Amino acid sequence: FFDGRGLAAAMAYGAAGIGMGTRFLLTADSAVPEDVRRRYLSFGLDGTVVTTKADGMPHRLLRTEFIDTLEKEGITAKLLRTLKRTRQFKEMSGLPWRTLIKDGRAMVHGGDRTWAEVVLAANTPMLLRAGLVEGDTNAGMLSSGQVVGLLDDLPTCEELVDRIVAQAADRLKHLDANRA
Ligand SMILES: Cc1cc2nc3c(=O)[nH]c(=O)nc-3n(C[C@H](O)[C@H](O)[C@H](O)COP(=O)(O)O)c2cc1C
Repeated sequence: FFDGRGLAAAMAYGAAGIGMGTRFLLTADSAVPEDVRRRYLSFGLDGTVVTTKADGMPHRLLRTEFIDTLEKEGITAKLLRTLKRTRQFKEMSGLPWRTLIKDGRAMVHGGDRTWAEVVLAANTPMLLRAGLVEGDTNAGMLSSGQVVGLLDDLPTCEELVDRIVAQAADRLKHLDANRA
């Protein structure tokens, strides 16, 4: 969802509201570095890809050169990258290896994940941080919905919400008028 037309449609289906991730990420108030937000705006409707290559889980991301490289990388490169990121994650989180291994073991024994998936998943916070906090689009994941291809501005949240509410009210009024 990104506009008032979508909000009106959702309400017509009986929804109480809508969730917007990418739309709020691309606002003037967003904490994501501005050059990263501008980069998002340059992507079209075919600019995202759902891949498991970054951290072992399906994730919709902007189709950057970094993601293209991940999609092609062999097992050795993946292993080296994963070990490096896992060490960084350990440093950032301040957690001892003992805790990380204990948490990983709980996930594996819970039956949700294999060890390979647990280790790969430790990449996620580091990859998101590199892209969305540090602004390194060549080494980070840029999560995105497909709506990115329809967005071309960075309004404030206030402007955005006012605009969406006004559009939705207008649409719903038209529906009412047509029914009468
Ligand atoms: C910054 C960001 C982080 C996200 N993180 C996750 C995540 O950790 N797990 C997940 O399943 N989806 C994640 N998503 C995907 C969203 O939940 C959502 O499916 C997607 O963005 C489509 O909705 P939207 O068009 O409103 O953004 C993320 C999206 C964004 C923009």
